[in-house]
Amino acid sequence: MTPVAAQARGFPVLDVARVRADFPILRRQARGRPLVYLDNAATTQKPQVVIDAITRYYTEYNANVHRGVHELSEIASEAYENARRKVSAFFNASHERQIVFTRNATESINLVAHAFGRTHVGAGDEVLISAMEHHSNIVPWQLLCEERGARLRVAPIDDRGELMLDEFEALVGERTKLVSVTHMSNALGTINPVEDIIRIAHRRGVPVLLDGSQAAYHMPVDVQALDCDFYAATGHKLYGPTGMGILYGKETHLESMPPFLGGGDMISSVTFEKSTWNTLPHKFEAGTPDISGAIALGVAIDYIQSIGLSQIAEHEQALLAYGTDALAAVDGLRMIGTARHKASILSFVLDGVHPHDIGTIVDREGVAVRTGHHCAQPVMHRFGVPATARASLAMYNTRDEIDALVRALGRVREVFH
Ligand SMILES: Cc1ncc(COP(=O)(O)O)c(C=O)c1O
Repeated sequence: MTPVAAQARGFPVLDVARVRADFPILRRQARGRPLVYLDNAATTQKPQVVIDAITRYYTEYNANVHRGVHELSEIASEAYENARRKVSAFFNASHERQIVFTRNATESINLVAHAFGRTHVGAGDEVLISAMEHHSNIVPWQLLCEERGARLRVAPIDDRGELMLDEFEALVGERTKLVSVTHMSNALGTINPVEDIIRIAHRRGVPVLLDGSQAAYHMPVDVQALDCDFYAATGHKLYGPTGMGILYGKETHLESMPPFLGGGDMISSVTFEKSTWNTLPHKFEAGTPDISGAIALGVAIDYIQSIGLSQIAEHEQALLAYGTDALAAVDGLRMIGTARHKASILSFVLDGVHPHDIGTIVDREGVAVRTGHHCAQPVMHRFGVPATARASLAMYNTRDEIDALVRALGRVREVFH
């Protein structure tokens, strides 16, 4: 639905100007021109409320959590656990015990690879991923498989960048101990048919981890409706601070898994002979956590919900359609990733121009895009390109910014005519 059609039907439409006013960095210039920030898949910008939450924590109630009976520690502990409740509600987990705070999505996936993987994956077993994974959802499984004598299997993708579901299904076999796939590709924008993936895997009793690093800030995610076993997300893409990651896990899995890291806070008792573990989710949160980060992430989630993920998705989809058409008109441009179901990613190459040169020249025009392999080298190999230029959209981007990108690509063409 276009914004106009949405308005006509009485749906609230995202007020982008108002949203932009909440993000102080968007007022700055880059290379002497208004900043056009189109590198949101790498990290999103932060609204003032998130920045303020960090300052407020350090100026008003800085104290360690879960450790003191003094007032500041009580306030900090309550704020930290309140952030967990917000994250739990955001993903519709059935209980906040199922939400583990980590440093980032990479750590969330590594936690599962260590604690679940080492318990359940043995010699000759298999872990199944897809050909569109970020390195964070490849390397931990390679390390695990190497250690256990297991095999990493990879479900292929087609020329549009869509998962080949029949091939995927054929790869789920007797030896498959875990399926770990991305909900949305950071290199292509593809949104995977995760309901089908989970149904297929569960039919064979295989648990599924979804890497939601990209999906979680573009669309509503309901872990109960999905029935996924694990869901990994990363706070800095959810308009929150860096240093905060999220792992949702079904309680039965989390209960059955040994700890990931050992230390303070994750124990119930310690003697030199034996230690016992704290209750969920603390069993997986060893040491002093990123307290201000968690609190600020909770505020970021409040902020996203005050705008509405459905509104955000609608705005970003309209922008993606506009950007797809606008880039199609650029001479010699080839889009990498044309899945029928995709979000917010415009990944492309230009005939005769290395993507790094695209990035450098558009940067001079104040336009920030990412160039490179986007931590997805196998995707680059699949499409036969060394790298792509990637413009990635967030709730505060506008059509004018897409136009600025297209104008900047015109400059690239002038330089490389
Ligand atoms: C699909 C996907 N998975 C995992 C990650 C890793 O996120 P982080 O570096 O925050 O751990 C990213 C980050 O770009 C991503 O896009």
